Amino acid sequence: MHLTELNLTNADKDFVWHPYTQMRDWVKWNNKVIVKGDGFYLVDSEGRKYLDGSASMWCNVWGHTQNKVVQAMIDQLKKVPHSTLFGFANAPSIELAERLLELARGMHKVFYTDNGSTAIEVAMKMALQYWYNKGKEKKKEFISLDHGYHGDTIGAMSVGYIENFFRVYRPLLLNVHRIPSPLLYGSRFTNERDLVEWCLEKTENTLKRHKDRCAALMMESGAQIAGGAIIYPTGYQKKVARLCRDYDILLILDEIATGFGRLGNVVEYLAQRSQPDIVCFGKALTGGYFPLAVTLVTRRIFDAFLGKYRYNKHLYHGHTFTGHPTGCAAALANIENYQNHDLTQQIKVSAEYMASRLPEFSKSPIVADIRYKGLLAGIELTKNNKPIVFLKNKEIINYFIMRQALMMGVHLRPLGNIMLLIPPLGIGKRDLEKLVNVQLKLLRKIEKLS
Ligand SMILES: Cc1ncc(COP(=O)(O)O)c(C=O)c1O
Repeated sequence: MHLTELNLTNADKDFVWHPYTQMRDWVKWNNKVIVKGDGFYLVDSEGRKYLDGSASMWCNVWGHTQNKVVQAMIDQLKKVPHSTLFGFANAPSIELAERLLELARGMHKVFYTDNGSTAIEVAMKMALQYWYNKGKEKKKEFISLDHGYHGDTIGAMSVGYIENFFRVYRPLLLNVHRIPSPLLYGSRFTNERDLVEWCLEKTENTLKRHKDRCAALMMESGAQIAGGAIIYPTGYQKKVARLCRDYDILLILDEIATGFGRLGNVVEYLAQRSQPDIVCFGKALTGGYFPLAVTLVTRRIFDAFLGKYRYNKHLYHGHTFTGHPTGCAAALANIENYQNHDLTQQIKVSAEYMASRLPEFSKSPIVADIRYKGLLAGIELTKNNKPIVFLKNKEIINYFIMRQALMMGVHLRPLGNIMLLIPPLGIGKRDLEKLVNVQLKLLRKIEKLS
């Protein structure tokens, strides 16, 4: 029987353990079961439509209906649904690697995985083994930014440590050296210039102190999203890249959430003029349709893994679905679609529209800070200088936002007290307008309840 014909009760829905979800509340909440897509909307089993206001966790580009990316996947599935990269190559993975290396200037080889977290794990293993293969085994520690987020696997949680999420898992995690994130809001600085100077000074001290023991510095490229929608000030990332070079510490850039257009640039590190040694992409790489991620390295890194077999210099990493031809075909069609639709220009126009609407939020007495770039905006809500956690009706603020948004026909996923505007990259004006309007209505409701 087709799912739409089922009358899904709460009990029926109760088989799946959802991510980052208190499952007791999930059952109470009567959450929705999505059965099909319609443009930038998702349609539930009762026929109700929800605008995809979270870009399906920041990855969706073209919406949820048939398009050239989907067709490319269907075509590939008909040719060969999967073939492993262990011992074989496959045509889409070669073509995609070639295409990615044209886009990501300065990079030399592409390693495939199937999600952002594992792309990060690979990057960390590569950095460690690079130094090992060079005879510098002592360089095995990592540096990362406060408020960074790099995924949910062990290495990724270590470098992207968010206390509230990962406290319990600490016994599993690596010790990582932290450097400050350039977030002006809530800092003791009144301007970005002084803040950046202070961050860079701290960063340089850390690099200097640990240069003989550190393999790499890991950071998100352009902005930290999960850690609070923190946009790097102009020139900051470039200067961090220079410090890494000066102290011979590899720079790993995480473009999993920011690459492929979120901040307005397909390759963010080029816009930031900060050449990494290793860079990761995921999420929007396939338009958000297939779990595929990549870790790209420079020639310097790759060459350190070459040698006679008995020297055992090769990289011991590989997943069953590494370089999945269907995912690679999706990514190739997606990249072609970016060009055919001049998506970066469309993102620019949408970003300008979104920015033009943000002053309507800043008028609110509970809006403490708005941070934005491209198609990302974070709106920080506070009362008496404290983050709003609970509302007068005793509801947790993020539950309230999600629940009310669904009632208004939009799917949202805020970061606690930070409202997030993070639409599908190819969204049209009318849908974007709806998304902004609904967030404004929600803000008014929260004002009354806080
Ligand atoms: C910057 C960043 N890196 C890594 C990841 C992990 O990606 P995935 O969820 O595909 O494992 C995310 C996910 O949100 C992310 O935002």
